[in-house]
Amino acid sequence: MRKKILIVDDEQSMREVLAILLEKEGHEVTSCEGGVAALKALQKAVFDMVITDLKMPDVGGIEVLRSAKSVNPDTVVLVITAFGTAESAVEAMKLGAYDYINKPFKVDDVRCIVKEALSSTDQYQNKLSAELSAHEKPALQKIIGQSPAMREVLELLPKIAVSEPNVMITGESGTGKELVAKAVHQLSPRSSAPFVTVNCGAIPENLLESELFGHIKGAFTNAVANKKGLFEIAGRGTLFLDEIGDLPLPLQVKLLRVLEDGAFRRVGDTEVIRVDVRIVSATNKDLKEALKEGTFREDLYYRLNVLPLKLPPLRNRGDDVAVLIRHFLGKFKPAKKISAEAMEILSRYPWYGNVRELENTMERLIVLSSGDTITEEHIPDEIRMPDSLPLPQDIPAEGVNLDGIIEDIEKRYLTKALEKTKGVKTDAARLLNLSFRSFRHRLSKYDLGEKD
Ligand SMILES: Nc1ncnc2c1ncn2[C@@H]1O[C@H](COP(=O)(O)OP(=O)(O)OP(=O)(O)O)[C@@H](O)[C@H]1O
Ligand SMILES: [Mg+2]
Repeated sequence: MRKKILIVDDEQSMREVLAILLEKEGHEVTSCEGGVAALKALQKAVFDMVITDLKMPDVGGIEVLRSAKSVNPDTVVLVITAFGTAESAVEAMKLGAYDYINKPFKVDDVRCIVKEALSSTDQYQNKLSAELSAHEKPALQKIIGQSPAMREVLELLPKIAVSEPNVMITGESGTGKELVAKAVHQLSPRSSAPFVTVNCGAIPENLLESELFGHIKGAFTNAVANKKGLFEIAGRGTLFLDEIGDLPLPLQVKLLRVLEDGAFRRVGDTEVIRVDVRIVSATNKDLKEALKEGTFREDLYYRLNVLPLKLPPLRNRGDDVAVLIRHFLGKFKPAKKISAEAMEILSRYPWYGNVRELENTMERLIVLSSGDTITEEHIPDEIRMPDSLPLPQDIPAEGVNLDGIIEDIEKRYLTKALEKTKGVKTDAARLLNLSFRSFRHRLSKYDLGEKD
């Protein structure tokens, strides 16, 4: 979809390269040759994305970032950094930049980052609007699974849904926490009110408070109008706090107070607003560990975890793998078949990325298999031969360095994936079920892949 993008850089050649690239992708581009001009442009129009250099003679990129985010928190900001100035890039990320681009950059890398960044906001917005008016297939039918572990969940779910207390859903990444959270809402007496999702890890800390509770005009610099928070938008519905383990401590205190008082104030306001929102939270972290370490408040934990719902990892769900494979085939390409051998191999694989990994794999297999049947040959090596994972035979008395071992495995997988895709990073990221962004961060963490 055509987006409005602002490019800010004092180097003319840089502006031109980016403008040509982005216009080719079908976007509407405005260019500014410095921070001052950019701040003006940001007052005049709303941009979906801002790409700014950090170091500029007049006003720097950090200022541009702050201003863009305060005018419209949904604007995605990418910063351009000269090689070796990681600190300012990190500062920018903390202030809400989506990602950074190292100079000199490859046009292809930039294209990928821009695409991913734009689609992440699209998903966020689509999700909000879709959820506010959800009239979907009966909630339970969407949750596929017949294994004893899953049956337990499916039996418990409606009982939990019709009761009032807060629910905390735990489970590894990709086990279906979000799917289940929606079902809890849809099966509850609140189903005609909104279901609103907040990803506690994705919103920068300094915006999260106003995002949750709203603010009034003038509450802080650039609070140009009153804004409702997600607590108010959720009304008498359900607020889904995803990745609750990432909620920063100061906000944990504020959230606890709201839950205890049943009321809150918009940032900068004195008026008290009553809340009647049910909180469903989710995490793939071990919050018990976080409690011990003091990074998650115990009092808040008990308020949120009144009704716990634990989702089993796919590798403990037996025949569910086969059932899900048939489900995804039916969903993506009903005409496609799968051979018994291929089914066997997929059923043996441990699926550490759970249903999400299986779903992505099925999408990929459907594309890769040109005929009408998915067979053994279409299945990638790492799924066919999962035994290549080094499992411990024993642990010596002097112990092992687990972090080192894990880093070593990670490096080998990153390298192998790049090898396999002849250095095409997007494909390599897909092979590892990583976002391009996360893949790139890992590469630079280990100093890999930038040698070409
Ligand atoms: N039981 C299931 N039946 C059908 N689809 C499922 C099931 N569980 C998960 N999925 C699908 O798998 C994908 C991942 O699920 P979801 O996003 O709910 O996982 P999650 O636990 O929230 O993961 P994360 O911790 O990474 O956010 C989604 O596309 C979802 O629809
Ligand atoms: Mg999730």
